[in-house]
Amino acid sequence: MDNTDTMAKRNSPAVVGPKSPDPDISSESCLMEGIADPGMIVIVGASGDLTARKIVPALFSLYLNNGLSDSFLVVGCARTRLSDREFREKMRNALKTAGILDDRKWQIFSRSLYYRRVDYGELASFQSLADSLKELNKKHGTEWNRVFYLAIPPSLYKSAAEMIGKAGLSTENREGNGWARIVVEKPFGRDLDTAIDLDRSLHKHFKEHQIFRIDHYLAKETVQNILMFRFANAIFEPLWNRRYIDSVSITAAETLGVEHRAGYYEQAGVLRDMFQNHMMQLLALTAMDPPSQFEADRVRDEKVKVYRAIRPFPISRLQDHLVLGQYGAGTVEGKRVPAYRDEQGVDPQSLTPTFATMKIFMDNWRWQGVPFFLTSGKRLAEKRTEIVIRFKEVPHSMFRQTLGEQITPNRLILGIYPDEKISITFQTKNPGPRVCLRPVTMDFNYNQDHTGPLPDAYEKVLLDVMLGDHMLFWRQDGVELCWAFLTPVLKGCETCVDRAEILFPYESGTWGPKAVGDLKK
Ligand code: BG6
Repeated sequence: MDNTDTMAKRNSPAVVGPKSPDPDISSESCLMEGIADPGMIVIVGASGDLTARKIVPALFSLYLNNGLSDSFLVVGCARTRLSDREFREKMRNALKTAGILDDRKWQIFSRSLYYRRVDYGELASFQSLADSLKELNKKHGTEWNRVFYLAIPPSLYKSAAEMIGKAGLSTENREGNGWARIVVEKPFGRDLDTAIDLDRSLHKHFKEHQIFRIDHYLAKETVQNILMFRFANAIFEPLWNRRYIDSVSITAAETLGVEHRAGYYEQAGVLRDMFQNHMMQLLALTAMDPPSQFEADRVRDEKVKVYRAIRPFPISRLQDHLVLGQYGAGTVEGKRVPAYRDEQGVDPQSLTPTFATMKIFMDNWRWQGVPFFLTSGKRLAEKRTEIVIRFKEVPHSMFRQTLGEQITPNRLILGIYPDEKISITFQTKNPGPRVCLRPVTMDFNYNQDHTGPLPDAYEKVLLDVMLGDHMLFWRQDGVELCWAFLTPVLKGCETCVDRAEILFPYESGTWGPKAVGDLKK
């Protein structure tokens, strides 16, 4: 975390609000992009947490906002034995917990909800699922369009995708009506080789246009806004380069610990969990060149160019570019919390990093010499996701005699969480007879003047899958380039003899290890 930025922001004495927005643009017109084709979403792994916490609430919310066709079916499947009634009850409770249960609408929605038991490695089980889906399809008179959402551990992706394919469920109707799509969530492999291997398996039965690799960060409204901000305004882009920008800090700080995910996290650590995906996407959106059109492949082409330009780390001098940390006990949001090694399911000797700051350089004309500091960690002082652009100092200070050498440089913050906002700080004269400067902040709050609901990230990705729009999804070349950059780094960290020495402990509730300061010097 760039502490100075955060501190300065809190101390900013003045706030200037934006003018009211263009009255011609109604937020109503931006709400829904279109109704998804009728069809079905098959949630593979529907007895799990993700289905109850994210997927079904997002589908219900889409339904409430008229984004789902009335004849859209939701079929949950998993190894657990559940009847349709039990599954519906479970989902009703999940909506209640999410605070979005509308009983009248639920009565109708729940009629389209079914559950079928499957064994992920057993073909017969998927064949009977296929029969069952066809029956449901006929019964509801809906189209033969299918989304398979893999809400299962990544180790099962390959076999589930293969079973879906072998059961004939991935075939798209030859007359062109009836699509089949598969959705996978990160992690896409655990290094370059496994990512390629997973992709090969998916491609055995699905073509690239059928595969949707989710990164929920991309569906956050303010993350999507980065491109609008940069490329729909003429005033920022001319400054968006090494001539005017001193450094960029991209931070995703969390207060949560490992929670109940030790089994996964012990194997992943922060680099695989946050950097290979979310952090790389934020980096690409901040650093990319403007695409010629706002179209999925052109946007993804530009992102890929960013990944190609990242300068590989010298593995022999990892510590010049990377600080890793692991949380110890401490106090977060007023509560005592245990050290990572004392969390349930974590090896008491674990060397898994829960924090990292990475200093990245890009070898291209735009960014030569500009450091990008990427930071993410668990159990930090605040949950905060933001991109801070620090501009260069003024080339010459005519106020030197009165104010000294240093004038705080301008800063632009793209706030993603908790403040969905854009703010710019600049210097003004403090009122009064003496010449004093004071930094002021001009804030645009994303919700300001917006009256409609803000869709949850999962709603947006589900809708886009159903509409067949790949804009917010990873393309395999991007996945591989990011792994190509990170795999040697991971190998370097995981195999070096002094592994314990490069992992700095930090107290929970702070901003991470002190060693980060050295990286930023
Ligand atoms: C997930 C990671 O992808 O993103 C989690 O696996 C992390 O470890 C989460 O907590 C953060 O997402 P958000 O939307 O809360 O910033």
